[in-house]
Amino acid sequence: MYTHIFNLNKGLWRLLQQESDDPKAVVTNPVLEDLLFCRPPTTMKKPQLDGSVALKEWRGSRWWAGLKSCVDALCLFNIAVTEESKARTMTAPFRSLIEDYSRYLKSFELFLDRSSQHQCMQDFIHNTLPDILGSIGGGRPVFNVMGVGSGAGEIDLEMLAQLHMKHPQVKVDNEVVEPSTDMLHKYKGLVSKTPNLDYINFTWNKMTASEFEKHWQDENLGEKMDFIHLIQMLYYVKDPEATVSFFRSLLDEDGKLLISLVSGEGGWGKLLRTYRAAHCNTEINQCVTIGDIKTFLDTKDIPYTKYVLQSHMDITECFTEGDEVGELLLDFLTDVVEFSKNAPEHLKKGVLDLLRHPDCSKQVDGRIIFNNNLEVLVVES
Ligand SMILES: C[S@@+](CC[C@H](N)C(=O)[O-])C[C@H]1O[C@@H](n2cnc3c(N)ncnc32)[C@H](O)[C@@H]1O
Repeated sequence: MYTHIFNLNKGLWRLLQQESDDPKAVVTNPVLEDLLFCRPPTTMKKPQLDGSVALKEWRGSRWWAGLKSCVDALCLFNIAVTEESKARTMTAPFRSLIEDYSRYLKSFELFLDRSSQHQCMQDFIHNTLPDILGSIGGGRPVFNVMGVGSGAGEIDLEMLAQLHMKHPQVKVDNEVVEPSTDMLHKYKGLVSKTPNLDYINFTWNKMTASEFEKHWQDENLGEKMDFIHLIQMLYYVKDPEATVSFFRSLLDEDGKLLISLVSGEGGWGKLLRTYRAAHCNTEINQCVTIGDIKTFLDTKDIPYTKYVLQSHMDITECFTEGDEVGELLLDFLTDVVEFSKNAPEHLKKGVLDLLRHPDCSKQVDGRIIFNNNLEVLVVES
């Protein structure tokens, strides 16, 4: 049960930092400090680890009011670990969208339809990527390429086409790492109806990134890669930095690793920092932005080049109560299954206010256009 408390602490910590006048002082509260650092609370004895004690201590503390309002606002009231509240916690109102894969797919496809996400990626692929791909491969006759979290393959095939234009004589061994059967099916369908792909040999790995890493190590596959891409997928892994390190370790000398994620500066950055952090599923890192990856690369002195991709998303329907499109888009933005049905009114209002705030969106011809800017990092081997 304590994992529930610990799972909350990342979000709570960020909120407490925002709520408190003196964020550092929060750490001096021993219970919060324990929670913050994911330790069993040292201030409580084992038999008393029932949460009601924690609650009592917190109630007495000067942080309680702030904590309560944060927790209250986020509907995460079940930090008290009584049997009754345990039952309530188990039926907690928020379920991560990725846990309902068919709804996730629906809202992701709608997001692609309502946003310029693929368009800005395609502009990047046509205008910028060719120069990047020009320097890879060391003149070898066969290039090893890998797409991780490739989805339905539209972006992958665009990139492979540019690679072919740049290196027309070269054959390509293309590893696809994608856990979704549905996505792989769509990708294979796209391959079968796309002409002139004879230069590519596809290997399909129905696996997550970490399953693939294990498979690679178990099979002792020592092959080196010329080009690997992780496009909009690091949100779904437990440890984005370790994932980046593993895939970078597969690069050949002149190989490149391309990573794309939402920008920490645009609407997503604001949304993730303010609301989503509070109910992030800590098993995976849905709150990761390109800023986090840059910080990691900088601390390790790993060279990379950054590109900003301007993108937007029409979220107007999110503001029409009961609109099916709006609800699916809201689910995508909050990463919560049926957010508008499950969130309490004040939280819903907070999210909607934030979404239309100038930090996140602007009004164009009566439509509300969310800043969906992405960034791409091209990491050296
Ligand atoms: C947002 S989509 C991006 C798809 C594609 N790269 C694009 O840009 O259109 C994320 C993809 O990552 C896949 N995915 C989810 N969890 C994953 C994991 N742990 N490892 C690898 N891929 C994952 C999903 O199935 C989905 O196809």
